[in-house]
Parts: sequence; C-alpha cells; structure tokens
Amino acid sequence: MKQTLTFKVNPQKPEMEIIQIAANIIKNGGLVAFPTETVYGLGANALNPKAVKALFRAKKRPLDNPPIVHVENIQEVYRLAKEVPPKAEILIEKFWPGPLTLIFKRSEIVPDITVSGLDTIAIRMPRHNVALALIKESGCPLAAPSANLAGRPSPTTAQHVLEDLNGRIDAVLDAGPTNIGVESTVLDLTVDPPQILRPGGVPYEVLKSILERVELHPVAVADMKVHVDRARSPGMKHRHYAPKARMIVVEGDLEAVVKKVAELTDYYRRRKAKVGVLATDETVASYEADVVKSLGSRSRLEDAAKNLFRLLREFDAEGVDVIIAEGVPSKGLGLAVMNRLRKASGYRIVKASD
Ligand code: TXA
Ligand code: MG
Repeated sequence: MKQTLTFKVNPQKPEMEIIQIAANIIKNGGLVAFPTETVYGLGANALNPKAVKALFRAKKRPLDNPPIVHVENIQEVYRLAKEVPPKAEILIEKFWPGPLTLIFKRSEIVPDITVSGLDTIAIRMPRHNVALALIKESGCPLAAPSANLAGRPSPTTAQHVLEDLNGRIDAVLDAGPTNIGVESTVLDLTVDPPQILRPGGVPYEVLKSILERVELHPVAVADMKVHVDRARSPGMKHRHYAPKARMIVVEGDLEAVVKKVAELTDYYRRRKAKVGVLATDETVASYEADVVKSLGSRSRLEDAAKNLFRLLREFDAEGVDVIIAEGVPSKGLGLAVMNRLRKASGYRIVKASD
C-alpha cells in the first residue's frame, strides 16, 4: 500500500508550493483528490490513458461509467468537444465556473478509456480556487469522479476521502468541507431538447428559466428501478451513494410521513435492529430511535444538500442496521437530494398516506 500524502490548503488562496507538488504528481500520472464546490473529486490527467486506468482501479469503479473532465479555461472545451452548440455557449457564460456538467460530442484527442468508449464527453469548470489552481498548474484537463469508493456516499470532506481511499491514491488536498454537498447537474446537450441526466447543484427550475426547453431524464426522477440505454446514460444502472445500512425512504404528506417513520422505527426496534432516522428540523423531536439526525430545515433545502452525504456516513460510523429517511420536497436542490436518497435506498420507497 502506498502512503497517501495529506496537505492542508487555504480554500481561497491556495499555497502555490503545495499546488505545485500536487500538479507534479498529476503530471507523473498519479492521483490527487481535491475539493470542488460540490464534493471532493479524484483527479488524473484526462489525456493519459494509464493515469485514467489507475483512477478507475483506485475507486473500484466499473470501466463503463466515465468520469467528468474538469477544465479551468473555456478554450479547452473546443479542444475536447467536437461541436460546441450555441446553447452550450450561453450556459457556459451563465454557469461556469459552477456546478453544471455539459455533455458534448467528443474530439479525437480524448482517449477511449476517459469516456468509456462513448462518442460523448462530460465537461465542467469547478468553482473552487484549489481545483482551478490544480488544473492550471497540471497543464491538462483532469478526469475527476467523486473521490469515494464506487457505490459509497460522495465525500464532502478530506476525512471522507481518506476513509475510502487512504493508501489507494497519492495525495489529498484538504481545504475543509465543500459548499454545495451534492454533485453537479449533468445536462446532455447532444439531444434536443437538452436533458438532465443527473439533478445536482444547478436546479432544474433555473435551467428551465434560461433554456426554452429542458427535460428531466426518467431515471433522474425515478422512484423505482428503470431500464436504461447504456449508450445514453452510463452509470445510471450502478448502485450509488449507499451507506452500509439498509435504507428506506418514506414519501408523502409530512404528517403521514412522520407517522409512518415512527411506525417503521418501532417495527425494526422490536426486531432488535439498531435504527437511525434521517429527519428534518421540523420533525426531529417526533422520533424515538437509536440515532436521530436532521438534514436541516425543510424551508432550506440547500442545507439538506450540504448535510446529506456526511449524515449517511455518520449513520454507518454509529453502526445502525437500518436508516429510515423522510423524503423532502423535490424542488430546487430538493430534487438532487431526493434522487440521492432514492438511489441510496436501492429504491426501497414507502409511500405514506392518511
Ligand atoms: O460535482 C461533480 O460533478 C463531482 C465533482 C468532483 O466535480 N464529480 C462527479 O463525478 O460527481 P462522477 O464521476 O462521480 O459522476 C459523473 C457522472 C456519472 O453519473 C456519469 O455516468 C456521468 O457523469 N457521465 C460522465 N460522462 C458521461 C457521458 N459521456 N454521457 C453521459 N453521462 C456521463
Ligand atoms: Mg460519483
């Protein structure tokens, strides 16, 4: 096992000596985890097939699920993509740097392994000075999936990265907790109308106000397993964001949800299971479980997004057998939260009604 180096960095003004060490690791084909505004990413030179292969191996990620390629200037998009439609230019102008990933037809310079053999590529420019400095100093675009083991909740701190990948990667840049907490929105621009493949940091409503037409892919809003065409939607079939505990999501009107969560808690506790409840500020006092945690207020879904992955990891650390989670409204960042909760539960969803 190799030693993973950890460096503390200033999130606003990253120390250039440290960025240079990290960039040298990337230039030599190594793997460096770094913060973005959404979650921590695990970076490798996107144009070096060996480095990208090592990236898949470190994460134990299936080779058919391509990573997002991160850039720090817009010219790179014209090198990596075969066509940049006018809609893309509008979105780039409006949302980059930021939590919006765009899917383009890819150019010849991109190695097959970086895009899992597809003819498309996912690109974004992150809004984080450490990420931007690292990409710039490395002198190449960075393939960077979330820096967790495949299937585990995405990391929002450097500690989460080390929990999963210590000894499997060369270095991690620790700039404290990330700001948004869920991953970027993935928008496919190779179809008309553009389609959201993964809800994320830029809400659907916001994209709708800019684009005349935009659709949500059925999987992005699914409340059960849906068959997907691999060529269009790689990775959607894989289990994601999952804690070790069995998880159940309860959806419906709040009053009915609280009643159902309490009922399920009681059921599992009588069977001697250690039960965790994922509640909200408005409901947290209603439950008697072994561990009760709050995502934050229902009126601030951006807090739920920020807290979600950390809380799932905390339940695991406390050794609960079952997590019973309240659903939240699917608006704004709530759509991304619900998408992650449903996937994490393996679509074990209970609809509560009076
Ligand atoms: O916020 C984020 O997006 C984070 C940070 C690190 O930037 N990254 C991230 O990467 O979440 P990852 O690899 O964990 O998720 C990438 C998603 C996957 O769902 C993958 O299937 C999809 O993007 N994707 C990548 N290339 C694609 C392509 N060519 N067509 C369709 N989907 C693609
Ligand atoms: Mg991921």
